[in-house]
Amino acid sequence: MDLSNTEKQRIKTQFGEWAIVTGASSGIGLELATQLASAGFNLILNARNEERLLKVAQQLQSHKIEIKSVVADLSDKDGVEKIIQSTQGLKVGLLINNAGYGTSGLFVDASLDSEINMLRVNCEAVLALTHYFAQQFKEQGRGGIIFLSSLVAFQGVPYAANYAASKAYIQSFSEALAVELKAFGVDVLAAAPGPVQSGFGQRANMKMDNAMAADRLGVPILRALGKQSKVVPGLLSKVLTYALRTVPRFIKVKIMEKVMSGFTQHQR
Ligand SMILES: NC(=O)c1ccc[n+]([C@@H]2O[C@H](COP(=O)([O-])OP(=O)(O)OC[C@H]3O[C@@H](n4cnc5c(N)ncnc54)[C@H](OP(=O)(O)O)[C@@H]3O)[C@@H](O)[C@H]2O)c1
Repeated sequence: MDLSNTEKQRIKTQFGEWAIVTGASSGIGLELATQLASAGFNLILNARNEERLLKVAQQLQSHKIEIKSVVADLSDKDGVEKIIQSTQGLKVGLLINNAGYGTSGLFVDASLDSEINMLRVNCEAVLALTHYFAQQFKEQGRGGIIFLSSLVAFQGVPYAANYAASKAYIQSFSEALAVELKAFGVDVLAAAPGPVQSGFGQRANMKMDNAMAADRLGVPILRALGKQSKVVPGLLSKVLTYALRTVPRFIKVKIMEKVMSGFTQHQR
């Protein structure tokens, strides 16, 4: 699935010259980086695994764009600083806060260190990068920020309690910034997909049914940028969101318990 030439031109004009994609070596981040490369953006790509990141950078070079690879762990403050340093002197117009991961199972049995590490990547790094680039974008009077929220962001989710809470933070943060930053010419978008085939399931120890292919997400997300503040990519996710719209929140939590029971391994 590819963006039309008109859409490529629109986003390049509105959000070029450089785009940052965190977590660009796999899944949704790789798809977004690929779409942006084909639209002619120069890219700052980030992930922890150097070999995989350099391979992606090499593949995307075929679009005749400039690419900087920033190998950095975003659970570490230095990782965020490394990304910021790599952008000095560049005209950055788009920040994609994509890097993130999930955990699953009963919270009481989880390692506190890994739960805190997840919050650092999913929330703290996103907060720090957004703070820096929102200031830059305000100054230049233009820019775009995309956040990776999730369908799990809209109610508590048993057996993925902390992951869902991290995405609720992202969703709420993004909704508020969309309003605040609009006045400065900066567009903010929260993308809230349902299950997607990527490295996510394995790392979160979740077995996800009916997962969407990652290469179907880039077009709806980038098409929505600058036009709306939230996008739910994929038909199944749209149907689910619509069907559950009027359901009381405590019932949604019960439904999520059933769904996650099928996705995760846990013992009471
Ligand atoms: N898959 C789903 O079902 C789904 C649904 C809704 C929302 N999301 C969200 O979408 C985003 C992307 O997930 P995905 O499904 O594409 O997963 P993925 O295939 O596992 O990709 C995650 C990317 O983030 C990087 N990453 C992970 N930890 C990092 C860290 N500490 N520092 C820097 N980079 C790191 C990974 O590379 P390295 O491992 O080399 O660092 C990889 O490039 C996440 O925020 C996730 O929460 C996913």
